[in-house]
Amino acid sequence: MWDEGRLRYGGDWNPEQWPERVWREDVDLMRRARVNLVTVGVFAWSRLEPAPARYDFDWLDRALDLLGEHGIAAALATPTASPPPWFSLAHPGALPVTADGVRLHHGSRDTYCAAAPAYRGAARRIAAVLADRYAHHPALALWHVHNEYGTTCHCEHTATAFRRWLAARHGDLDTLNAAWATSFWSQHYSDWAQVSTPRATQYLANPGQLLDFRRFWSDTLLEAYAEQRDLLRAANPAVPVTTNYVLGDWVPVDHARWAAEVDLVAVDHYPSAVDGGAEEQTALAADLARGWARHGARLRTVTGPGATADGGAGGRSPGDAAGGAAWLLMESAPNLIYTAGRMHTKEPGRMARHSLAHVARGSRGAMYFQWRAPAGGAERFHSALVPHAGPDSRVFREAVALGEALERVAEADGATVEASVAIGWDAACGWALQHPGLPSQRLNHHREVAAAHRALWRAGFGCDVVLPGDHLDGYGLLVLPALYLASDATAEWVRAYVHGGGHLVVTWLSGVADEHARVRTGGYPGAFRDVLGVRVEEFHPLADDDELPLTGGGTGRIWTETVRLAGAEPVRAYAGGVLAGQPAVTRHRYGAGTAWYVSTRPDDETYGRLLTDAALAAGAAPTCPAAPAGVEAVRRRSARGSWLFLLNHTDRPRRVPAAGVELLTGAAIDTAVEVPAGGAAVVREAAPGR
Ligand code: GAL
Repeated sequence: MWDEGRLRYGGDWNPEQWPERVWREDVDLMRRARVNLVTVGVFAWSRLEPAPARYDFDWLDRALDLLGEHGIAAALATPTASPPPWFSLAHPGALPVTADGVRLHHGSRDTYCAAAPAYRGAARRIAAVLADRYAHHPALALWHVHNEYGTTCHCEHTATAFRRWLAARHGDLDTLNAAWATSFWSQHYSDWAQVSTPRATQYLANPGQLLDFRRFWSDTLLEAYAEQRDLLRAANPAVPVTTNYVLGDWVPVDHARWAAEVDLVAVDHYPSAVDGGAEEQTALAADLARGWARHGARLRTVTGPGATADGGAGGRSPGDAAGGAAWLLMESAPNLIYTAGRMHTKEPGRMARHSLAHVARGSRGAMYFQWRAPAGGAERFHSALVPHAGPDSRVFREAVALGEALERVAEADGATVEASVAIGWDAACGWALQHPGLPSQRLNHHREVAAAHRALWRAGFGCDVVLPGDHLDGYGLLVLPALYLASDATAEWVRAYVHGGGHLVVTWLSGVADEHARVRTGGYPGAFRDVLGVRVEEFHPLADDDELPLTGGGTGRIWTETVRLAGAEPVRAYAGGVLAGQPAVTRHRYGAGTAWYVSTRPDDETYGRLLTDAALAAGAAPTCPAAPAGVEAVRRRSARGSWLFLLNHTDRPRRVPAAGVELLTGAAIDTAVEVPAGGAAVVREAAPGR
C-alpha cells in the first residue's frame, strides 16, 4: 500500500450509518472511482462497544472483509474522539470543562477531557481490543488514531497534570515565577497548589501561563495519542500509525513536534476562502505538512498490502524524499468550501486541482471527508464523493475522473518537491501572539507566514516551511515572518546562517520576546538586532483602514516602527505620517550574508516585489519563470526524472513552455503544453528546465 509510485485515494467510509445493501453499492462505486484506501470507524465507539466491555464487532468484521475482497485497504480508526453516552453517564468527571468553569455535556463529539484518567483508560481499552482483533486483518493498511486532537479542558484532572508538567519544565517555583514574570500584578506563587490552568479571569491573563498551558496541552494530547499508538504498534509493528491533524491557529497542538511520533503526517485541509484564497491556502497547508513531516514521520516502503514503519530518527534536511518525510492529505472536501456563514460549491475541476496541488507538494495521495453523504446527523450537509444526489452526479463523475488522474500521475509519488526559499514557522509564536495585551489585535504569526508564503507563491517560488534550528543548506533565502518568540538558540541559528553567507528577510515583530514571552529589552527586534543592523525604538500600530505610503511605491499596513540604523542601509522609507523619511525596509551585510528587515506589512504586490528582489539576489529562482499569471507550477525530482505540475486557476486555457510527456492525456509535448481552463497538466520532463 505504501510503495512509492502509488497514490492513495479515498475517504471516510461510515458503514455503521448505512444498511449493508448500501455497503455493496459503496464498494462497487469505489472500484469505479479507483478508490484504494478508506478510513473506517472514526466515530463508531457506541456501535463497537454499546455497553461497558460488551463489544459488537460483527458488522466491522463484515465491512473490513468486504473491503478486502474488493482490494480496498482500510485506515482503521480508534473511535476515541466520541465516547458513547454510557461512558459520560458513568464518568461525569471526565466531561470537559471550559475556561469559565462550565462542564460540557454529551450530544456532540469530543465530550471528554484528555487528562481524565477514566477517559484515558477507556480509550486505551478500546484501542487494545481493536488492535487485538484487527492488527493482522489483510485489509488493514494504516491505523488512524482518534480524530483531530485539539479540544481543551480546565477541570481538576487537567490542573493536576498541568502542575506536574510545569514542575518538570521549570524545576522549581522560583524559576516558574521568573518565567511568568509573576511579580507583575501580585501573581507570585509560593506553593504549587496555587497554580492553575488559565481559567477565565477578570482582566488580561498572564502571558507566560497561557503559553505554557498551550505547550502542556499539546504534550498531554500527544501522550494520549502515543498510548494508543504503542498498543497498536505492539500488536503488529508492520502497520503504520498516525492521527489526522486539524489545522488552524486555534489548535493547541505543536504539529511539527508531533511528527516524530507518527509514521506519516496526516492533515485535514479545508480552505476557508473562496476566490483565489483557497488555492493559496492549499499550497501553504501542503508546504506546512511537508515541513512538519521532515521532523520525523518515517514511513518505509515495503511490498504487499501493509507497510513497515521504522520510527527512525527524524530527517531535518531540506529535500528529503517524500518517502522519508511522509505526509498524506487525510481529509478534504470534495465539492464545498466552508466560508463564514455559508457553504460554497466548488466549481467543476476545482476538487481535482486542490488534490493535485497537494500531490504536487508531496502528499502520498488525496483523501476526502467523506465517501457518502449521511442522511442524518449534525454534518448531513457536509460534502462527499457520493453526494445526497447519488452517483449520477457531477461530483461523483469528477471523483471517477480524479481516480484515473491520480493513477496517471502516480509515478511522481516519492519524488522530492523543489523549493528554493525557506519560511520560518513556529507553533509557540502563534500561541504567544494570541494574548490580548499586545500592541495591536491584528498580530498573528500564521497570517504573517501566510502573507509571505502568498507573496512568494504568486511570484512562482517553491517554498519549504522550516522550524527554528532546522538545517538550511540548499535554500537561497530564509524568510522569518513575525517570529515573535526567539530563544538564544534561535538567535544563534539565524546568526550562524547569515554569517555563513545566507540571505535572510526578517519581518516586524520578530525576535521581540524570549521563549517565555518576556520582552528582550534594549531595543527591538532584540534577538536579531546585530544580524539586521537596526534598533527599533517604538512601535506604531496602524488602524484597520490605515496605510502608509512607502518610497518606491506601495504601502505599509497593520504596523509601522521607528527604525534606527545600526549598520544597515535603508532600502525603502516611510513616505508619510509621523515616520516620513525614516527607514521602513533595510539591508545589512553580516559576515558573508545579507539580512533584510521589513518593519511593516507591505501590500501584497509590494511584498511580492521585495521578496522577489531578495530571493533573486540570493540566487533563488522561480520554479517555472515562463508560467503565465494564474498558473501554479510545482516541480518534483528524483533519480527517476522530474515532473512539472501545472495548475491553471484561471478560466482560460494557458500555454506553458515544457517538453516531455503530459501524463493526464498521454500527449507528447515538444515546446509547450496547453493547460485547460480550471484544469491541470503534469509533464514528465524530457530535460528538467528552469
Ligand atoms: C473535519 C473532521 C471530520 C468532519 C469534517 C467536516 O475537520 O475531521 O470529522 O467533521 O471536518 O467537514
